[in-house]
Amino acid sequence: MNLRIPGPTTVPAEVAQAGAAEMINHRGPEFAALIARTTEGVKKVYQTSNDVATMTSSGSGAMESAVVNFTAPGMHSLVVSIGNFGNRFAELVNIYGGVLTKQEYEDGQAANLDQIEAALKADPEIRTVFITHNETSTGVTNPVLPDLAALVHAHDALLVVDAISSLSSIEVKTDEWDLDVVLSGSQKGWMVAPGLAFASVNERAWARHAETADTQPRFYFDLKRHADSLASGQTPWTPAVSLFFQLDKALEIMLAEGLEGIFARHHKIGQMVRDGIRGMGLELLADEGVESDTVTAFWLPEGVNGSEVTKIAREKYQTVFAGGQGKLRGKIMRFGHLGAMSEADIQAGLDALQKAFADAGYKP
Ligand SMILES: Cc1ncc(COP(=O)(O)O)c(C=O)c1O
Repeated sequence: MNLRIPGPTTVPAEVAQAGAAEMINHRGPEFAALIARTTEGVKKVYQTSNDVATMTSSGSGAMESAVVNFTAPGMHSLVVSIGNFGNRFAELVNIYGGVLTKQEYEDGQAANLDQIEAALKADPEIRTVFITHNETSTGVTNPVLPDLAALVHAHDALLVVDAISSLSSIEVKTDEWDLDVVLSGSQKGWMVAPGLAFASVNERAWARHAETADTQPRFYFDLKRHADSLASGQTPWTPAVSLFFQLDKALEIMLAEGLEGIFARHHKIGQMVRDGIRGMGLELLADEGVESDTVTAFWLPEGVNGSEVTKIAREKYQTVFAGGQGKLRGKIMRFGHLGAMSEADIQAGLDALQKAFADAGYKP
């Protein structure tokens, strides 16, 4: 199967094989060496010297960890949402008793710095800003990150970034951009099976963790417990050891390619997908200039049933595409292009898409 969804992504054979290695004691010396190595590798990809926790959970667990570690009930938060995954942060803030300001954008739009500043000015009590770097539901990469932290910090707030579908594929300069908390997940550009999630934490965020320790209950996702355990080469709870084996191998492959090479490959392939899809007469969801290099969302033309296209693509052309999420269900389709992929895989994906559309009755 050609897995052209925006995660889980193709796991290279050597990474899958690494995951099949003999089990080890997660409280023993082999695991201590393994987690020291993977943490160092993950930090390189994050471009950070901050602490980084590796949790056994999907990306949403990392999102929940950000809310339980750095906010408290009654504390004001701003969620900048450009789609479904931004909405998830809003849901989490509400569930954990925060006071929420939600700034929503039209589908396909990126966030705007002036509007974020206006929201911060409107409520000086906002202490945390949550934003999605790459919105997987709409195929938009927010361009505001390099300048956002300065704005957020000037308002004495903390910045939490969901980089789940960007980090390891699209550049995220955690330290240079002064991002307080950055989240990612193994099943995206990292080329690892689903089940590991990452969170980087800087000094500002640790201070917030201490400030909210008495007012916010936290346990499984307590990042301090993760940091303390890591100091002795462990995780607080039994980790998905086999996924750490996979991550170790995947990092070796990623660092051999080099970050610049990875970002350039994703950009080139992103452009190839955009050109290919536009060439079929289809319209992209993302505004011009903010299209994602990991996932492309496009509108379904009048009279074309997206479920039929994805069924034909899967059954006849062994290619898996994603549909829309939330209110975009039935209106769009999404083509994933992140992680382990060659230009040939992508060309095959574009060919399959074209044929499936034609079989479903689409005439450009
Ligand atoms: C941007 C973004 N945020 C959050 C998530 C949620 O991660 P998970 O499905 O691993 O819980 C995803 C997964 O698709 C995502 O793409």
